[in-house]
Amino acid sequence: MLENQGLQGDLGRGALVLGIETSCDETAASVVQGGREIRSNIIASQVDLHRLYGGVVPEIASRKHIELIIPVIDLALKEARVIPEELDAIAVTYGPGLVGALLVGLSTAKAMALALDRPLIGINHIEGHIYANFLQYPEVEAPLVCLTVSGGHTDLLYIDEYGHYDILGRTRDDAAGEAFDKIARVMGLDYPGGPEIAKLAAVGNPEATDFPRGLMQADTYDFSFSGLKTAVINHIHNIKQRGDKLPVADIAASLQAAIVDVLVSKTVAAAQEYGVGTVLLSGGVAANRSLRTELRQVAGLHGIKVYYPTEVLCTDNAAMIACAGYYRYRRGERSPWDLNAVPSLRLGEV
Ligand code: KG4
Ligand code: ZN
Repeated sequence: MLENQGLQGDLGRGALVLGIETSCDETAASVVQGGREIRSNIIASQVDLHRLYGGVVPEIASRKHIELIIPVIDLALKEARVIPEELDAIAVTYGPGLVGALLVGLSTAKAMALALDRPLIGINHIEGHIYANFLQYPEVEAPLVCLTVSGGHTDLLYIDEYGHYDILGRTRDDAAGEAFDKIARVMGLDYPGGPEIAKLAAVGNPEATDFPRGLMQADTYDFSFSGLKTAVINHIHNIKQRGDKLPVADIAASLQAAIVDVLVSKTVAAAQEYGVGTVLLSGGVAANRSLRTELRQVAGLHGIKVYYPTEVLCTDNAAMIACAGYYRYRRGERSPWDLNAVPSLRLGEV
């Protein structure tokens, strides 16, 4: 579906695409050749700055992107040993995300594309996350089921052909990453909470507390994590009221198990119902080791193959944007000069 065959010979040397990503709190730029070869992948994280506030402060994110965007692009070009004139296209995230943050990347991409007389290609951030898999695994073929789990999204998708997404289910309240982050905050852990909880969970007992698995038994591919959040808050409150010490590792392991169980069971059920042999995992939460392992194990029992990107390509980066941009470029797609940032852009929407 992704026209992976014969990429090297295509478009001469393999088109060079600059990807730019500023949808949240990472300023990122990357040069990818032929949709596959990552020539550079620069990520300037603002996480230390936002950690002081326990979450992303949009105004600070925009201002930081303004400072970092040119140096980050410069470095991406330098590391790739590419001069701007050698670029074939500029791909940039235009949504979903924080509007002020998106506008920094989008304006910079427009300025570069205009100055260099190269096509501008707007990319949906969530589609970018999915393409992180295609960067690494040329053998992946549709039809397939994809679970996209990030700080802002939890979508279960059926993909039957390139660029066509059927949404089977999505979260009705918090995204999986958001659940990790909010619960971590209650536990007094640093932002972002996902990796902190994962670290603690590695030394905790996942069966210590049987936290609710939202909508697990329901006849739907939708997810719900707000009940889990409430249950963990109540659990912590009760322990504190008794004056006992918080068993943080056990709580982390138990709540992680609750999130992972639901994600895995619905994803495998969808793959079975749609009769696909391939499942993709994408988005920041796809970096979670327990999710990766359990999904592979359970899917494997049904002969379903699971792909996920290396950890650095799971969380926000611009290589995934350049990769998604490459395929759109090859199909002759171009974005108009009046392309705007779309904070709540959905998959499949233009
Ligand atoms: O894709 P991403 O970098 O940004 C968004 O598009 O939202 O995802 C960030 C989310 C955060 O909620 C973070 O806590 C979560 O991914 N995350 C993890 C792990 N690494 C990042 N959650 C669980 N386990 C991890 N190892
Ligand atoms: Zn993301």
